[in-house]
Amino acid sequence: MVSRKCRTGFSAVICNALCFAGIALADTPGESPSIERGERVYQKFCALCHGANLEGQPNWRQRNDDGRLPAPPHDESGHTWHHADDVLFGITKFGLVPPYGPPDYVSDMPAWGEVLSDVDIWNVLAYIKSRWPEHIRQHQTEITARSRRRGAE
Ligand code: HEC
Repeated sequence: MVSRKCRTGFSAVICNALCFAGIALADTPGESPSIERGERVYQKFCALCHGANLEGQPNWRQRNDDGRLPAPPHDESGHTWHHADDVLFGITKFGLVPPYGPPDYVSDMPAWGEVLSDVDIWNVLAYIKSRWPEHIRQHQTEITARSRRRGAE
């Protein structure tokens, strides 16, 4: 089953592997995502680590004693906005597994695919983006458009 939805941002090999495993990658939803619902999802599931105000954990660039990285901010001071939509969706759904991280990478970022629907993942990402200043939002929209033409960033 090679899904029509399986496209953009992923190498063909990984994409097909995911699809054969029965995991169809979600496309951006047809309806516009709900920022309001995304905020509720964020406060319930993400704020604990990424901060109620998207500020991240203190000293987020420095690894903890166990070698893992703290949760980065999702506001403009972090690097969430350096990633294309498909990458943000994939990290949130699957966690920092390949192709988003090295094969044996250990991270405190959970995979949310069992907990959140694809629509709620797009909702929470829409909320995060709604908190960025306009120029950052535009920049990230361009990164997304470029990566959809070319492959993941
Ligand atoms: C248990 C703590 C924890 C929770 C809860 C959590 N995260 Fe994370 N998240 C992390 C950590 C830690 C990282 C950085 C991991 C690394 O680089 O090793 C991260 C990284 C990320 C990244 C990559 C950011 C970047 O700049 O590369 C995204 C996107 C993300 N999280 C989204 C979410 C969303 C959306 C939620 C809520 C649905 C969430 N996270 C909930 C701990 C958490």
